[in-house]
Amino acid sequence: MILVTGGAGFIGSNFVLDWLANPKAEGIVNLDKLTYAGNLSTLAPLEKDSRHVFIKGDIGDSTLVAHLLQQYRPRAIINFAAESHVDRSIHGPADFIQTNILGSFNLLECTRTHWNSLPIEEQQQFRFLHISTDEVYGSLGANDTAFKESTAYEPNSPYSASKAASDHLVRAWFHTYGLPVLTTNCSNNYGPFHFPEKLIPLVILNALNEKPLPIYGDGMQVRDWLYVSDHCAAIRCVLEKGALGETYNVGGWNEKANLDVVKTICAILDELRPRANGASYAEQIRFVTDRPGHDRRYAIDASKLERELGWKPSETFDTGIRKTIEWYLGHPEWVAGVQSGSYRDWINRHYVA
Ligand code: NAD
Ligand code: TYD
Repeated sequence: MILVTGGAGFIGSNFVLDWLANPKAEGIVNLDKLTYAGNLSTLAPLEKDSRHVFIKGDIGDSTLVAHLLQQYRPRAIINFAAESHVDRSIHGPADFIQTNILGSFNLLECTRTHWNSLPIEEQQQFRFLHISTDEVYGSLGANDTAFKESTAYEPNSPYSASKAASDHLVRAWFHTYGLPVLTTNCSNNYGPFHFPEKLIPLVILNALNEKPLPIYGDGMQVRDWLYVSDHCAAIRCVLEKGALGETYNVGGWNEKANLDVVKTICAILDELRPRANGASYAEQIRFVTDRPGHDRRYAIDASKLERELGWKPSETFDTGIRKTIEWYLGHPEWVAGVQSGSYRDWINRHYVA
């Protein structure tokens, strides 16, 4: 087995579904607290798959985590669990400190105790893969070179500061205790099952619901976008081939200004789902007050991962954004569940406590 935390969230659920799509894949124990961002209905296709064991719980619960490690003896842990939305971290940073820092600390400590108790061959095979973000590196100017693994950490939001802290803990557990860790720092993901508080799903769904498309500030902030299944492939690659204690940047070489992203979405929707009045969805764009401390530009240099481990993204932004929009148009039940909040009923019906 492998243990995945946060596997009911956006990237975690894509990872679990991709992994188990391989009939030969090992099973997954999926530990997720099911916050507002966790959506078990995404994992409904796995209901009858005995290789998927879902556990509702907190990575900060040491009794539960220790018990799961003993019971399932996973050969690897992949830590996706986090509070992940910058705007929420500005309004209420406490949950970010709790889960991203203290939760990761607890997971590391439980893992260390467990790992120390394993026979030497199992110790050598064991991996702890921590999933992090490019936001830990801070903000780039227009002419700065892209973030490398050696770029100094300069986090600017409560979210990125909490992720930076967890990255540092992971690093220290390698250097101090010899825990076999790996870290990935990825750029902005997009794709199926993305919660509509983040830019791309928010714009797709607001457009279709004839709501304003809010652009923070001047809309010229740049993000480097990666299709989520390419991120999942990178994680599998690092898990199998990554060098212990190393960090790997993951990115799609797809830098885009927010305004261009939104205009692209509008143009594709104009083609696939034209408005009844014939006008463009771009008419719904509204410039709104900027996010405090808004990072201007992120760009990832993923050449280490490409060169050393042979990973490459398979989607460009043009192919990935079209697939994403088609997915949202083709899954009205998932969208309705998220928008009405009814996806939370799954929590009561389907989890194993
Ligand atoms: P998400 O918010 O969609 O999902 C997070 C999941 O973690 C949810 O299912 C939630 O229920 C669960 N969770 C939260 N607190 C928990 C706790 N204390 N114990 C157990 N489970 C808990 O986030 P995401 O976008 O899927 O991001 C996953 C990881 O990838 C995060 O660590 C994030 O920092 C990182 N990341 C995200 C992006 C991105 O663009 N979304 C980019 C790079 C890195
Ligand atoms: P987001 O999806 O929240 O990801 P992150 O802040 O982690 O990069 O936002 C992506 C970019 O889009 C970011 O520069 C903020 C901007 N944005 C808007 O302009 N309007 C919005 O309504 C949202 C949610 C984000």
